[in-house]
Amino acid sequence: MTSNYSRRSGQKLGFIPSLLLLSPILIGVPLYSYKHHIYLPEPLHEQYDPVTNLSQISESRILEVSRILSEDIGFRTPGTREHALGEDWLWDQVTKMKDDCDELVKKTPHRHLECEIWRQKGSGSHRFDMMGARLYKTYVNLGNIVVRLSNGTDASKEHSVLVNAHLDSTLPTPGAADDAICVGIMMEAIRVLVESKDWEPKHAVVFLFNNAEESLQDGSHLFSTQHEVATTVRAVINLEAAGTTGRELLFQATSKEMIEAYSHVPRPFGTVIANDVFSSGIILSDTDFRQFQQYLGVTGLDMAIVGNSYLYHMRKDVVENIQPGVAQNFAENTLALLFYLSSPPPTSPSIASLTAGYTKPSTVYFALFGKFWMYSFSTAKLMYVALLVDAVVLVTATSKSRRLGTLGALCKPTLAVLFAFVGSVLGSNVVALVMKYVLGKPLSWFRNEYSPMVLYGPAAALGALVSQYPFTTITELQAYHATLLVQSCLALAIQLLGIGSAALFFLNAASLWVGLAVTAILGLVSVRTGRVSLLTYALAASLPLFLGSSSAYLTLEVFVPLTGRIGADAPADNLIASIISIVGALGFPLFVPFVWRFQTSNKRILNRLIVVMALVTAIPIAVFSVREPFDTMHQKRVYVMRTENITTGEHHLHLSTSDGAPSFEHLVYEVAKEFSAPPMVAPSAANRSSGDIASVAGDIPIPEPILMDWYNSDWDPMFPFSLFLTPYKIPLPVHTDYISPWSSKSNQEGGTGFAISAVDDIVDLEAGTRSLKLVIWHPGLIWTVIAFDAHVLKWNLDDEPPNEYTRHHIKEASYYGSDTWSVDLLIQIPTVSDTKDSNSGAGEILVNFIGLEEEGMWPGKKALLEGKNAKQPGLALKLFSTLDAWIEKETGGKVDALLLGCVAGAQHV
Ligand SMILES: *[C@@H]1O[C@H](CO)[C@@H](O)[C@H](O)[C@H]1NC(C)=O
Ligand SMILES: [Zn+2]
Repeated sequence: MTSNYSRRSGQKLGFIPSLLLLSPILIGVPLYSYKHHIYLPEPLHEQYDPVTNLSQISESRILEVSRILSEDIGFRTPGTREHALGEDWLWDQVTKMKDDCDELVKKTPHRHLECEIWRQKGSGSHRFDMMGARLYKTYVNLGNIVVRLSNGTDASKEHSVLVNAHLDSTLPTPGAADDAICVGIMMEAIRVLVESKDWEPKHAVVFLFNNAEESLQDGSHLFSTQHEVATTVRAVINLEAAGTTGRELLFQATSKEMIEAYSHVPRPFGTVIANDVFSSGIILSDTDFRQFQQYLGVTGLDMAIVGNSYLYHMRKDVVENIQPGVAQNFAENTLALLFYLSSPPPTSPSIASLTAGYTKPSTVYFALFGKFWMYSFSTAKLMYVALLVDAVVLVTATSKSRRLGTLGALCKPTLAVLFAFVGSVLGSNVVALVMKYVLGKPLSWFRNEYSPMVLYGPAAALGALVSQYPFTTITELQAYHATLLVQSCLALAIQLLGIGSAALFFLNAASLWVGLAVTAILGLVSVRTGRVSLLTYALAASLPLFLGSSSAYLTLEVFVPLTGRIGADAPADNLIASIISIVGALGFPLFVPFVWRFQTSNKRILNRLIVVMALVTAIPIAVFSVREPFDTMHQKRVYVMRTENITTGEHHLHLSTSDGAPSFEHLVYEVAKEFSAPPMVAPSAANRSSGDIASVAGDIPIPEPILMDWYNSDWDPMFPFSLFLTPYKIPLPVHTDYISPWSSKSNQEGGTGFAISAVDDIVDLEAGTRSLKLVIWHPGLIWTVIAFDAHVLKWNLDDEPPNEYTRHHIKEASYYGSDTWSVDLLIQIPTVSDTKDSNSGAGEILVNFIGLEEEGMWPGKKALLEGKNAKQPGLALKLFSTLDAWIEKETGGKVDALLLGCVAGAQHV
């Protein structure tokens, strides 16, 4: 059928007319996928359907919960007064909910429903490695609130589904989306479940309102290791937010059963690709899901709001900035999951069968065309093998010689296809390097997630075009064949590696296969002239373009804002440029055949295209080189600490940022000019290590960046994130009559202070060991961190301290007012060569310590300065109120500064 020469395919439409003919697809498909991408349901105001009077999810109610927590109560950083108030408020709500539930059950005696509530309190510790660093967490008296809905029988309580959201927010952010909105979603879900007349859960649903996620998952650790119902949990649904817009993304799904459960939500949004990207660790973040996996060994679903991630952990994470429909969508999906998982088989798989626990998932899944698709890895392998075989058959059938040997002729075209990808990656990356190093304009695209497509897209295309230069004698059909085979092979190869994302290549290859097969049957493919029809493109290009553009929207939404917090040294521009080339290659697999469609007949077309594309590439470079990376809704993150060192009596201002945009030095310099101590009175300036203040311009010391490493304790409150920072240190003036409220000598009972001591201290010189309890006393300070060098043989933090003399970091988070914690140590008394300090006594350790003033965080504690009950502010708060206003004015609101008052010191114990 295909050997017939087709007149129509022999017609020669030029490059531009062909492009115009295809433009409805080239423009329409990305627009359609965008519309689909941003779709959200209408938010509902009423809690009861006005017609049927049945309970329904009310977004207004959810947002009201978020407003109360984030505005009325405020910044709920673990350890603060607001954190405790948030817990009290929620406990009130939950108690009322239980009363309502009991009332309702009493009124309907045949209803099998029981509502139970717990207020958990507890202390503990856990190892929490992150960002490649070893780290320990300890916590005192932290709390969780737990609600269980069951049918009242032991059988229903034996196996339960856990739903988790966190009540706390991180260092100064009100956390309206992260994660107060999810607290509201859980409360609405409970109400609707309880008020659904026929709902009698076969399996209990446990709601965990966990009140310490941001202090590194202490709340979920506490629940998992100490709560009485924890052992009944068979599956978990975690609700999170790292943004304020769009559909919540399913980014971790760890068992087939739970993926199957997810297929029942009304509006699924999640793919195995998101799962693969997240589990690669490149996002640098983690959720409570990790604790449930680690300590309960359960599988589940991890979902989060991810759009507009610029506001993640920022001051502007407020209700006003949450997009309408987000809560409705998230809550309805969650509710559907709970209805499904709590119902008996055969409606749902018995969740009792999920005891197998955590295994690497082996299911491919994605939502496409409003449907949720899932199949096992073994099915995937079969399908991808079948497609590869079919591809080979189709290629042979549409080649001049029908023998399999003709595949050899595809060497050159295959190289051309691979070159195009490499060329496109190089093209976009060259532009990234030019922007960063030649023009000094890194991150120029930062404030608009999609804008990198404009900057790097043409460059990627240019690179792909240039890469075709060495090839001279390829036909369009050969290039098409090569593309089809490359995509089919990639699908199979990647799936064989156990990576479900291979589905993307499978879908692309299948689409190319269909396009070629259909047009070949219609006689539109000319084997003799090596040409395919425009209809081939029309048929084959749409699905890849849909997948490519959907992937681009999501990936850019996640990664572009992320570049504002991955550290100044991270190759942010290259990361984004590479993403553009990769999604470009996914979206336009037929780029190479299309070019050769014209190049074969008109040798000069490639030259012309390259010239035109070079011009098109230059325009966005010019435009972006005058763009500012930040604005008031896409702010730069600046971290500020005002630290009083009670050991030396010095006060410093530490400034840092986590992005690679230029001119931070300038801001630091201006701050130094405005707020620094004059160099002549800077305490002990003479014996300061070089690098602190290297040079003096006029009267102002020019701050130099400080090397961050494991041994620098300045930024320990942010360890190990601090390893990504490039901080500056500015000395601050102190009044000569200042009396520190933190020095432990001046303050005893009821005051504030910071002291480290050793109790139960026993030195065993014979064994060469010392055992002690290190006690940290920190009234008025929260999030304390200690760092010390020792060869620890045993401690109560975990069972396997590293068997060597090394640095240890222990971070604490506790309930408001809990001001002492301790750690039990058995250490090897170091030989002199181990320590630099040979004067130390037997096994003496030098402990670096630092903590945050509970009343010294800005803007979290702004209210302390306002109103009738305004307090006499501490040094930190006083400085921050002026410094913050100054930064706001100086930068035109383009900076979100996190300002922390800290107290630090170093003590031999
Ligand atoms: C406080 O001063 C001591 C003694 O000089 C020093 O070892 C320690 O690193 C300082 N801590 C901070 C956080 O500046
Ligand atoms: Zn969160």
